[in-house]
Amino acid sequence: SNDVSADLAHVLYTKEQIQEKITELAAQIDKDYEGRDILLVGVLKGACMVMADLSRALHSHVTMDWMAVSSYGSGTTSSGVVRILKDLDSDLMGKHVLIAEDIIDSGLTLSWLKSNLQSRGPASVEVCAMLRKPDAAKVNLDVKYVGYDIPNEFVVGYGLDVAEKFRNLDCVATIAPHVYQ
Ligand code: PRP
Ligand code: MN
Ligand code: MG
Repeated sequence: SNDVSADLAHVLYTKEQIQEKITELAAQIDKDYEGRDILLVGVLKGACMVMADLSRALHSHVTMDWMAVSSYGSGTTSSGVVRILKDLDSDLMGKHVLIAEDIIDSGLTLSWLKSNLQSRGPASVEVCAMLRKPDAAKVNLDVKYVGYDIPNEFVVGYGLDVAEKFRNLDCVATIAPHVYQ
């Protein structure tokens, strides 16, 4: 079968649970940013789903921009050294920047990104991540908006991939052992 759901082991969060959390996060963000425009920065490619859903759930004025970054070093463990593959189109000066992410794993990508964006003169830089793995943290990162904290296991869906697949799932799930074999 070519059905992607056949490759899943366990669903951690359903489409409904994710959308419920998006609504909750958006309400909090609208309240916190009252009277201010938000520049949403999505981190390609994982943030595609959270950008699409969060932006539509917000009632604030929003603009969207994208960055693509890559960790280099050994391919398996993130070195914390990040390379910009695609930079933002917009000038951040005086803007309220909200970075949208699918997941915070070690926290190294966001830690680097946050300070990089902070150096460009924005009014503020905050982070909204749908998932976070507290047990995988390698750096202490201040994240204002988090959807769900999850155990340190490999998950896919809602933007998260394994070898570029599974991003299109509307749920977050672990994958079945046969996928690795
Ligand atoms: C994943 C994920 C986060 C980052 C988290 O992106 O989408 O951006 O890793 O890891 P960290 O907290 O350990 O730094 P990835 O580099 O796989 O690129 P992708 O978004 O294109 O899948
Ligand atoms: Mn990513
Ligand atoms: Mg990835």
